[in-house]
Amino acid sequence: MANIEDKFMPWVMTAPQYSIAVCDTAWAHPEYGRMMLNENPVPPSPQVVEAVTEIIKSGNRYPDRMFRLRTKLAELHGVKMDNIALAHGSSETIDAMMRIFMKPGDEFLCSEPTFEMFPSRAGLTGCVNVQIPLRESDLQYDVDAMLAAVNDKTKLILIINPNNPTGIFIDDADLIKFCELGIPLCIDEAYLDYHPQVEAKIDLMEKYPHVFLSHTLSKAYGLAGVRLGYAVAQPEVVEAFNRMYLPWNISLMAMAAAEAILDNPGEVKQKVEYNNHWMDVFVKELEAKGLKPFPPHGNYMLVDANMTGKKSQEIVDAARDKHQVMIKTIKPIHGKDGYFRVTPGIVEENERFVAFVREYFSS
Ligand SMILES: Cc1ncc(COP(=O)(O)O)c(C=O)c1O
Repeated sequence: MANIEDKFMPWVMTAPQYSIAVCDTAWAHPEYGRMMLNENPVPPSPQVVEAVTEIIKSGNRYPDRMFRLRTKLAELHGVKMDNIALAHGSSETIDAMMRIFMKPGDEFLCSEPTFEMFPSRAGLTGCVNVQIPLRESDLQYDVDAMLAAVNDKTKLILIINPNNPTGIFIDDADLIKFCELGIPLCIDEAYLDYHPQVEAKIDLMEKYPHVFLSHTLSKAYGLAGVRLGYAVAQPEVVEAFNRMYLPWNISLMAMAAAEAILDNPGEVKQKVEYNNHWMDVFVKELEAKGLKPFPPHGNYMLVDANMTGKKSQEIVDAARDKHQVMIKTIKPIHGKDGYFRVTPGIVEENERFVAFVREYFSS
């Protein structure tokens, strides 16, 4: 009899896998500081908890299309309800955009490194990931090289702003060059709420019908485990997303949590201030040891420790084994294997991270 695996679509087992195994370790070891996943260390407020506790009493009922939540998000961005497509975390937006725009043989264009969910979900459509290395000098998007890679097969382009894992913003003039191509362009603004001085690119979405924005409540809003993301797009694109999603992709509990925090913007402001305070502390501590932290514009900081001769995995292992904090390895960038990424945790975890930096990078 034929092997069942021979019946799978060829790309099912060959697409890059996005592994969440690190979450298994983190949940199994609550003593470890979770500073590797760009989570928000501050738990939901009592108002959010109360709203979820209340709605679960209606958990026997199917949800509706959540016009009220969509309207609240639309008001936040100064757009209309039909510009908002709700997703089960922005990872679902990523998955749906691939299935809307890509078919086998098409090309998805993004940077290397990037948020790995994108190449993973793209690969599952059978399309080709075209990943252009960041500029070696400053790890900014290599805009010229990306534009040069565009061809007839390019069906979707991604710009994360600020980028993950670098935390760097792209210049507006460069972003517009991508918009002008007329190719579907996702601007992922998952971390923009940490830097409210920079506005969401609503104007680009309004001017260019093929441009759409991806947002999430997983980061500054601190609802990663609740799973709520949304795309801001022109109504035709929202309609395509809504057709691609499963009906009832958002649970009543996620809806209630989202509405409760949107009604209380002070909660997000406090979380952002907490994050940005600790980022300042980390920058000072890392610089004092001669390391090079990239300016953080989200809740994560890329750190260049290449000058120490230590490798990413060694650094991450030492932080976990000696100080019980989990930070993230970064694959070599332009052949350099001494980068890591860190996200603020709760106060004691941050203090342990600082102790690690002082001790480990002294030698
Ligand atoms: C750039 C970027 N986009 C999207 C996400 C996914 O977030 P979620 O699916 O939790 O909304 C992440 C998570 O780390 C991210 O870094």
